[in-house]
Amino acid sequence: MSTPLVLGIETSCDETGVGLVSGGVLLGDALASSMDEHARFGGVVPEVAARAHLEAMAPMVRTALRRAEVDLADVTAVAVTAGPGLSPALQVGLAAGKAYALAAGVPLYAVHHLAGHAAVDVLDHGPLPERCVALIVSGGHTSLLSVGDLARDEIVHLGDTVDDAAGEAFDKVARLIGLPYPGGPAIDRAAREGDPHAIAFPRPLTGPSDPPWTFSFSGLKTAVARWVEAHDDTGGALPVPDVAASFQEAVAETLARKAVAACVDQGADTLLMVGGVAANSRVRGLVEERCAAAGIALRVPPIRLCTDNGAMIAALGDLLVRAGVEPDPLDVAADPRARLTGALLHGTRALPVG
Ligand code: KG4
Ligand code: ZN
Repeated sequence: MSTPLVLGIETSCDETGVGLVSGGVLLGDALASSMDEHARFGGVVPEVAARAHLEAMAPMVRTALRRAEVDLADVTAVAVTAGPGLSPALQVGLAAGKAYALAAGVPLYAVHHLAGHAAVDVLDHGPLPERCVALIVSGGHTSLLSVGDLARDEIVHLGDTVDDAAGEAFDKVARLIGLPYPGGPAIDRAAREGDPHAIAFPRPLTGPSDPPWTFSFSGLKTAVARWVEAHDDTGGALPVPDVAASFQEAVAETLARKAVAACVDQGADTLLMVGGVAANSRVRGLVEERCAAAGIALRVPPIRLCTDNGAMIAALGDLLVRAGVEPDPLDVAADPRARLTGALLHGTRALPVG
């Protein structure tokens, strides 16, 4: 088989991402964000995001093609996020993916957004090991997974969050302390000036009798809210950097502890940490420190590829094509609440050999 050239499209939330990947190499990508249009609402408004995707789609595809120095006619497959995500936003990307696949006369892969977050790491760090533990920390999901061949194998959930995702906690706490949306980067910045040990916030579900791979961040958010309320009653100015740093430390400590323990339990020598929260400087720093102490190799994508983008979907499509996985029909549906079981949203079917 000649080297594939995969066009990847991502529209699950507020980023319109397009990427072109060929044989594990990112040739070019483009990203537009409607983040600023949502800031005054304190969160993403699905219909506003969908409209922005519609406007940005064709220009982003053109920009990515130009940067990669290829034509649409060179593309051999299209991969598109079909879930999970905001329904109106997903619909725009999926319709676009179908249209480009039809126009170019190439197969379509309707992929799982979170598998894309994991796949993007191969672009900078090469093929994944035979098996590893993956920590996915995004705005909507927090999971510890056992991952084998991303394109072919089922992804096994070791544990998930029972309430808020880690990124959601960053966004909600940012709002509580008057920082802008999206909260993660704002807390990351504010925390640089703060003392991570100023306030002892809880490390949720890290006790000896707690489920070891399960996460819960809603209690931590409530603890921050209580602390802020109590502090407001004193009439003093809120020490935003200290609250940000102490909250961030609690999240980083919780993620690091559970992820390293999962690797030890599974006998995995590699931890793959992906998703928007993997862009956090303290989470990266602490997880790296703990992995080094435990002799575990840590793989984290470059910061720019941790948050949503088109390269991650193209990277996953490229793995699927090279693994000989059968594509989806053009009437494939989106699923805004799809659970992560593998690379394809609707299950993986290997092509018959021969
Ligand atoms: O993976 P992602 O881009 O989108 C989803 O699939 O959800 O993750 C977005 C989340 C948001 O909650 C955002 O606040 C968080 O990732 N995030 C961060 C940082 N950058 C983005 N959280 C902490 N520190 C950061 N530097
Ligand atoms: Zn994401």
